[in-house]
Amino acid sequence: MLTKERIEEIIAELTLDEKLSMIHGNGMFETAGVERLNIPPLIFSDGPMGVRLEFEKDSWEKKGLSDDYVTYLPCNSALAATFNRELAYETGSVLGEEARGRGKDVILGPGVNIKRSPLCGRNFEYFSEDPYLTKELAVEYVKGVQQWDVSACVKHFLANNQETARLEVDTIVDEEVLKEIYMPAFHDVLTRGGCYSLMGSYNRINGKFGSQHTHYLNDVVRDEWGYDGLIVSDWGAVHDTAEAAESGLDVEMSVTPDYDDYFMASPLKKLVEEGRISEELINKKTEHILILMNRLNMLDGERKSGAYNTEEHRKKALRVAEESVVLLKNDKNILPLDKKVKKLLVIGENADKLHALGGGSAELKSLYEISPLMGIKKLLGGNTAVKYVKGYSSDIYRGDVDEKWQERSLDLSFVRVNSSEEADEKMKELRKQLREEALAAAKEYENIIFVGGLDHVPGHDSEGDDRQDIKLPYEQDILIKELLKIRPDMVMVLTGGCAVDMREWIDDSHALLWGWYGGMEGGTAVAEALFGDINPSGRLPETFYHDLSECSAHAIGEYGHRDRVEYKDGIYVGYRYTDKFGITPQFPFGYGLSYTTFECSNAVTDEESSTVTCEVSNTGSRAGKVSILVYMKGGDEAPAGSDAQNDISTIGEPIKVLSGFEKIFLEPGEKKTVTVNITDGVIKGREYFAVV
Ligand code: BGC
Repeated sequence: MLTKERIEEIIAELTLDEKLSMIHGNGMFETAGVERLNIPPLIFSDGPMGVRLEFEKDSWEKKGLSDDYVTYLPCNSALAATFNRELAYETGSVLGEEARGRGKDVILGPGVNIKRSPLCGRNFEYFSEDPYLTKELAVEYVKGVQQWDVSACVKHFLANNQETARLEVDTIVDEEVLKEIYMPAFHDVLTRGGCYSLMGSYNRINGKFGSQHTHYLNDVVRDEWGYDGLIVSDWGAVHDTAEAAESGLDVEMSVTPDYDDYFMASPLKKLVEEGRISEELINKKTEHILILMNRLNMLDGERKSGAYNTEEHRKKALRVAEESVVLLKNDKNILPLDKKVKKLLVIGENADKLHALGGGSAELKSLYEISPLMGIKKLLGGNTAVKYVKGYSSDIYRGDVDEKWQERSLDLSFVRVNSSEEADEKMKELRKQLREEALAAAKEYENIIFVGGLDHVPGHDSEGDDRQDIKLPYEQDILIKELLKIRPDMVMVLTGGCAVDMREWIDDSHALLWGWYGGMEGGTAVAEALFGDINPSGRLPETFYHDLSECSAHAIGEYGHRDRVEYKDGIYVGYRYTDKFGITPQFPFGYGLSYTTFECSNAVTDEESSTVTCEVSNTGSRAGKVSILVYMKGGDEAPAGSDAQNDISTIGEPIKVLSGFEKIFLEPGEKKTVTVNITDGVIKGREYFAVV
């Protein structure tokens, strides 16, 4: 490690040009180094779910290598559903070791933006609607990454909760609301988690762009939180040289190779030479880069070498996937299914679809990906005849689903999805045929499993666009309804990063699993849950609404505008809103069944140790894991007749606030005393309660 003094000496030795070359992109994913002083370039890579594939240095041309396949981890929403800090640490650790193994310095994740609406295209990259759950898991994730001499880069700061017009939209939001809902994960990750890097967002917050916001980057992050790590812009999120230079931003990255024209390149040199920007500001930025490099042992000493595609990593990916599956319905114990089934029919495109290479910058080349269909077949073996029919098709997008979309991602007129009436007609015809085939087959099989949901097609779970509504795409509702009419025993598995509208068929569906994007072993985990090799223990990290009107952002009409979105819903996001207004959603936050039953009693709060202790028993006949969720009790329901649009600031505090959680394993009949840590400290005089 270099000393502080040595870092100061290096800065003094650097010329203005050298310093400037370090503070902006010199490649799509790297800055320039300074060879004569042994300062290497800083190499970034995307990868909340695995280290992204290699691009040419100066373009978005994929290199097409055979050596950039990696371990594909479950998405952050899946990780959140585990309610398991240890798994968050392990996920980070796999990512960090692989990033190092691939020669990267900074891995651009985790994304910790709050899921304010189920429409947000990047929800699958984010953890939860709840700031506490998000921060608890993200802190562990970051610690896991950084033990490998790789920096995590928590993103996108701040209030980046929609993809519609993400490059320009102005988010109008109160400071108090930011502090309670949208900032805690960033705060804790940077302070408690010791994260070395932060990424600014594209959007504006209260009038100014996130990646060059003097107030949030300087006053809040640097001064209030005491953060001396790296701040990097989102790719192309800088708009003004002086503002960027004066804000806490250290490195400007973008999507085109005209590096000298970046705001923090020649235009900044000019301002320094004219005396309008002090060289001291450039020194500070350079210092932050050198501090980061020093922390990663890039300047001196021995650096860990990392590894990728190890057996151990794949096992960890499987463990996370297994604990992320959420059992939403299981009437009459339809599940688990009997492994001795002779004839099994699997229906639905998602049974056979691979997801790793989609979603935007979260894409990756997975070493392999077990689809649910393969998971089922490899679990059952050759004595079961498994037939697969597609049932529906996603194939509506023609023209270019542009491979090099990122090159054009700053173009406001860029349309990712093409469609036409003629193509829509053809698709309707095809889907009808697929449905008829599925319905005919459904009558002939002992068991049928439907696997559907969302995918990473632009407009669904994908960067740069929001979903138009929360309906299942591709006429899946029609297919599901018709199938359930003739086979009410049909088991359903849905994949996706956020809630879908289930109203058309949910009352007729009796067995339903939610599988997220479960990574390379996602299909194995789904199959194990279906046939009882694991006992599902995932919980919803977000509210599954019946429809958008139950979600605060939509109830008040403040989501998805192109110019400005006012967060008038305040702190009433997710369950804080549904609770307060007496709304019963389709499935609430924290919901998740098991093949056994649990009970929790005698919760006692201890102010001194900041804990809640309770007794938890497994009252069923199978072993299983269970999460204990501790909430702080708050106010009462909003007075009858309150109007979410106008009265939100006057209705007092939320009814409950998640303040602690723990996950344990219990054999049938076993009882354990569990102590749940209230990480932020028990508030004197407040009541806490525990649920399983
Ligand atoms: C995304 C970031 C990503 C960056 C680099 C941007 O489009 O918003 O999350 O890390 O590109 O690929």
